[in-house]
Formats: sequence, C-alpha cells, structure tokens
Amino acid sequence: MRKFVIGNWKMNGDALEVHEYVHELKTALEGMPCSVGVAVPFLYLPQLTALLGRIPVSVVAQDVSQFKGSGAYTGEISAAMLRDAGCEYVLIGHSERRQYFDEDEMVLQQKLLCACEAGLNPIYCVGEDLNQRLQGEFFQVLDKQLEALEAVRDHLPATVWVAYEPVWAIGTGKVASAEQIAEVHAFLATRLQEILPARCSARLLYGGSVKSANAREILALPGVDGVLVGSASLTVAELRRIIEEARAMA
Ligand code: PGA
Repeated sequence: MRKFVIGNWKMNGDALEVHEYVHELKTALEGMPCSVGVAVPFLYLPQLTALLGRIPVSVVAQDVSQFKGSGAYTGEISAAMLRDAGCEYVLIGHSERRQYFDEDEMVLQQKLLCACEAGLNPIYCVGEDLNQRLQGEFFQVLDKQLEALEAVRDHLPATVWVAYEPVWAIGTGKVASAEQIAEVHAFLATRLQEILPARCSARLLYGGSVKSANAREILALPGVDGVLVGSASLTVAELRRIIEEARAMA
C-alpha cells in the first residue's frame, strides 16, 4: 500500500500562496502516482478544493468543532461544513490543540464522533511531551490518549489513521530516533488491534520535524505508513522530495 504524505500548513499562508502552491504541486506531481494530503487553514479549504480539481490530492482540515449538527456556537466550523468544503480527512488532537486550547480526551472524543458521523476520516494525533519521555511515562500517556478513540470505536471508518507526533520533535528540528519511532509504532499497532473492532484496521503516521533529508529513513521503518509534515511542507519542492521517497517505498 502507498505511504501517505500529509502537509500541515498550520496557521501559515494566504490566498495567493494557496494558488501558487497548487499550481506548483500540479506540475510536481505530474505522472507521479502518490498518496498526498494538504491541510491549509479553514478559510482556504474551499479554494484549495476548487484549485485541486481533479488533481488526486486529499483536502485535510486541521481541526473540527466538537459540536454536533449546527447551532449557536460562534466561531465554530462543523464536520458537515468541512465535508461541504471538500475535506476528506481531519486532524484531531494535534498537540498544539491539546496544548493551546486545552483539548482533552472528552472534547476529542466528541470531535471524533462528529467527524465520523459526517463521513470525514479522522487522523487522530497522539504523542508525549519531553518530560513524559524522560520520565519513561510515554506508553501510559499514549494509552490514555487512545481512550478517546476507543470510546467511539463503533463509529470509526474501516481504516483508522493515527499519527504519532512526539511533542518534543514538533517544530524543533529534533527527530525521534529510528528505534524510538519503531518502538512506539509497534506499541500503537498492538494497542489499536486490541481497541478497535475487527472490521477496522489501523494505519500509522509519524510526525515531528520530518523533512526530505530524513524522510527515507523514517518511511522505511516498520509500522510507518506515512508522515505528517509541518514546516517542510510549506514549500512544494521540499514536499515533492518527501513524496518521492514515499513513492520509492510503495
Ligand atoms: P513539524 O510539524 O514538521 O514542523 O515538526 C509537524 C506537525 O506538527 O504535524
């Protein structure tokens, strides 16, 4: 199966950049079968969808409201609205959401449910911080984070995406070692097999300072089905190099 490469723009870019990016991406991916997703800020999702047209790149949202349906929730974007904007996937539980917006397992469980019910594929992000890593508590932390997924197990799609993103490796230039990634991915695969219903299968992404220089090594690790790329995804040339590494391994 092809490795999945997702670029997460976070709070970067503007309408002009989205336009130029898609134009460059189109040329860069010409004749290159690959599995790619791009997550731009909410505001630019419809533009991204329209510009991509038939280019086989998935539109990914960076977050979704925890509230079901529609209603008086000022500033919120519902799962149905994201579907309407052309989104196929949504990141849920990114460590920046957990850190800056205090999103806990209860909130994330609601977000997961909203996404699944609207037919969006959640990409559930988990990861320990530096202190938890140093204290050797990371398996417990990850286990706790998986509770939100377990709580909505009956609503999950057949393929369940989970991204392991150690907080200490995000935006720091510090990548987890091959051993650390392989160890956690093996742990997650085992836990997910226990947690998920038999009709579901889990696929795992790694994220945290992934760039073209380290993508090959990471993508080659057992249990790594793709990468979630932040800052390195902001330039098409760099993203393309990562996609090429992923392609070479498919
Ligand atoms: P980074 O971000 O690649 O800039 O470390 C990854 C992420 O937060 O998804």
